[in-house]
Amino acid sequence: MHEDKILDSESQTLGVPSMQGLRNLGPDAVITRQAEQESEVRSYPRRIPIAIERADGVIITDTRGQQYVDCLAGAGTLSLGYNHPEINQAITDSLASGVPYQTLDLTTPTKDHFVQTLLGFLPSHFSENARIQFCGPSGADAVEAAIKLAKQTTGRNTIVAFHGGYHGMTNGAMSLTGNLGTKERRTGLMADVHFLPYPYSYRCPFGLGGEAGAWQSIRYIEHILNDVECGIQKPAAIILEPIQGEGGVIPAPAFWLQELRRITRDLGILLIFDEIQCGIGKSGSHFAYEIAGIQPDILVMSKAVGGGLPMSVLAFSKDIDSWRPGEHTGTFRGNQLAMATGAKASKLFSVTALLPTPEKWVSALPVICLSCKNDTHV
Ligand SMILES: Cc1ncc(COP(=O)(O)O)c(C=O)c1O
Repeated sequence: MHEDKILDSESQTLGVPSMQGLRNLGPDAVITRQAEQESEVRSYPRRIPIAIERADGVIITDTRGQQYVDCLAGAGTLSLGYNHPEINQAITDSLASGVPYQTLDLTTPTKDHFVQTLLGFLPSHFSENARIQFCGPSGADAVEAAIKLAKQTTGRNTIVAFHGGYHGMTNGAMSLTGNLGTKERRTGLMADVHFLPYPYSYRCPFGLGGEAGAWQSIRYIEHILNDVECGIQKPAAIILEPIQGEGGVIPAPAFWLQELRRITRDLGILLIFDEIQCGIGKSGSHFAYEIAGIQPDILVMSKAVGGGLPMSVLAFSKDIDSWRPGEHTGTFRGNQLAMATGAKASKLFSVTALLPTPEKWVSALPVICLSCKNDTHV
């Protein structure tokens, strides 16, 4: 850690390091080449015009030797910060042991260890009856798999998602996304998707906000799902982030999640929690939904689940394992290094001292929100 440039006062208050002074963010040779050679689709470099030379914890150093406090963490993948020594050691040990990089869905001792660790990391009520499915390494692929699974299990086609939700950029996942920016020029997105109001004071469609707005939202959802004149066919599943990430770091209240679980269970609608961004120790517990003391039917994980290396996984109840062999595959679903680092990261997060308390989380929010505001998804 490069403590020479870290100021104490603010870092004490926020619980995160801060720095002073201006940085040179003008184009240099590397930045200029990137702009010339990479597609216009690039996004973060437009707001963060730096080339990262090395990184350590939350401190990154650019190619000019300038340092920054990182609030991005690889969009939530690097929950333990950059180059955590134990994660690096897990990679080094794997390489030294001769483990293959990729094995499709063939198993290995590394994979077996990861699965046992993940099952131990999941809330026990859920893991006791859970099946694990490895998907292609992106979160979006796991979301696609969750949608397929829900549709084929229930024999229904409709999916309900939420205002402000974000689930990825593939066709199905994007169709579930609230923000219209990236959908503007897309046609032919997945059909039969409907959006319902998430409990969010700032965009409360009922003009209420707060707890009253959240109650109104859940009453409305229950009404819609029971009303034969509502125009929405009975959904296969409802998908949501227990804490919306790209939508602005918006936690759903515990009572709202509990009510949603009650309603979906009563109606036989599958409940999918997308914890790709908010899961794995970021909210004060292993998974954000744990605050409500309920269980989903399908849990979608990616980002930090691989300890910083690419991986995505579904966990779902055995009762809905309706897959036929090979119905959802992905070449890179056997990333052994990610399984080694993922198992190590889960172990480190299980040390409760590492998990931020909700109070610390709230005090860090202004910093995190500032970094989110710069993301073009928001
Ligand atoms: C909640 C959520 N779901 C899905 C995704 C998509 O994951 P990926 O970018 O790995 O496809 C993201 C990515 O930010 C996300 O935050």
